[in-house]
Amino acid sequence: MQTTSLILNGSTVSVSADGDTPLLDVLRNHLGLAGPKFGCGQEQCGCCMVLIDGKPEKSCGKALSTVAGKAVTTIEGLGTPEHPHPLQQAFLDEQAGQCGYCLAGILVSAKALLDHNPSPSRREIALALDDNICRCGSHPRILRAIERAALRMREGASR
Ligand code: FES
Ligand code: FES
Repeated sequence: MQTTSLILNGSTVSVSADGDTPLLDVLRNHLGLAGPKFGCGQEQCGCCMVLIDGKPEKSCGKALSTVAGKAVTTIEGLGTPEHPHPLQQAFLDEQAGQCGYCLAGILVSAKALLDHNPSPSRREIALALDDNICRCGSHPRILRAIERAALRMREGASR
């Protein structure tokens, strides 16, 4: 057992747990975040995806010790019900999702994409989501939602 500090959604937190505990378990069981989901547990589905220093990573395959001192962003860090991130609003507007199990992972992958490419092509969006599986087949709506969010963010930036 050791104490590890990281920056979670903008705030420093400390966790007492074995260093080899999967980050996903720490987020859900130690820190009470229900956004990142357990799907396969084998780095195959992407529903546990979070941003680590801005880069999408599958948290089921990341040991807690590897994120010491790093910035971890989950879906809870994107926006709030009162002030949703443009991506969250666009997913609502497009009704992009069915069961929703994949969406926390997809939204953080999409955020990482738009953070460095504000005007992605449909192919670039699809490539950015290559590690995120949606078993409900909501891909067309998900692509539309990300395009809608990108447009809104560009319009907002140009005002
Ligand atoms: S639960 Fe992590 S990739 Fe599937
Ligand atoms: S909305 Fe159900 S898995 Fe994607």
